[in-house]
Amino acid sequence: MSKAIFMPKEKDFRLAVIDRRLAGINEIYPIMSSKGGVGKTLISAVLALILRDRGYKVGLLDLDITNPSAHTALGVSIKELPEEEKGVKPLIADGIKFMSVAFYTQDKPLPLRGWEIDNVIRELLAITIWGDLDYLIIDTPPGLSDEALDAISYFRSPKPLVVATPSPLAINSVRRLLQLLNDLNGLKVLGIVENMANEPSKRVRELAEAFSIKYLGNVPLDPTIDEVIGDTSKLRNTLLYVALKGIAEKNLGPNP
Ligand SMILES: Nc1ncnc2c1ncn2[C@@H]1O[C@H](COP(=O)(O)OP(=O)(O)OP(=O)(O)O)[C@@H](O)[C@H]1O
Ligand SMILES: [Mg+2]
Repeated sequence: MSKAIFMPKEKDFRLAVIDRRLAGINEIYPIMSSKGGVGKTLISAVLALILRDRGYKVGLLDLDITNPSAHTALGVSIKELPEEEKGVKPLIADGIKFMSVAFYTQDKPLPLRGWEIDNVIRELLAITIWGDLDYLIIDTPPGLSDEALDAISYFRSPKPLVVATPSPLAINSVRRLLQLLNDLNGLKVLGIVENMANEPSKRVRELAEAFSIKYLGNVPLDPTIDEVIGDTSKLRNTLLYVALKGIAEKNLGPNP
């Protein structure tokens, strides 16, 4: 089952369109964790800001279809629908090209089943005109279901950045995700970021070691964060931004 996501998909004319739409993107980083609430969305949004602040062309795509929240992290008004013209141009938020199903669902619940979610993902990818990007950051849903894995199955050479916390509950869950990712031949995991940890924990470091992937660094617990979510200038002054910037400078980009 774990390999299915990279098996050829059935004939759907959108697949060729999707390949074309993604052709100008250099690096694709899905931010993943089987554990919910570990900071995937916040890290996706702040990492997009950091790479943008370093002068890169950056996109942020929210593929948490049933529970999108990246727009809240970035402070994007989902009332402003992206411009349409032979497809849909992402909204530009603080220099970041941003796309989310929330533009269409307007924060109403979207009670979809597995194949319906996959269908929405295809539709979003088929309509979105990204143009040239250095980085596309993808916020993904929690879990190990098809929903979480479908989120990366349409991209050539995605490099997942896995988020864990020092909690044994998170470690246990993330271990299963790493096992799944390990089974996908040729998939390169960028590494693990340990969130909400004031210092690197032995547990997460050992987890990274067990799967021969990089421990990218820790992001401290930032008690001010909930007050500044949605305000990108204030987000830039947080411990989270500073810690993640250090991690990005060391590990991401052509000259890390
Ligand atoms: N470094 C941090 N310091 C303090 N709070 C944090 C930190 N990282 C994330 N949080 C808080 O943890 C909560 C969950 O964050 P977030 O929504 O980004 O997680 P998630 O993994 O995307 O969750 P879900 O699995 O539901 O999509 C939020 O309230 C966020 O403010
Ligand atoms: Mg999230």
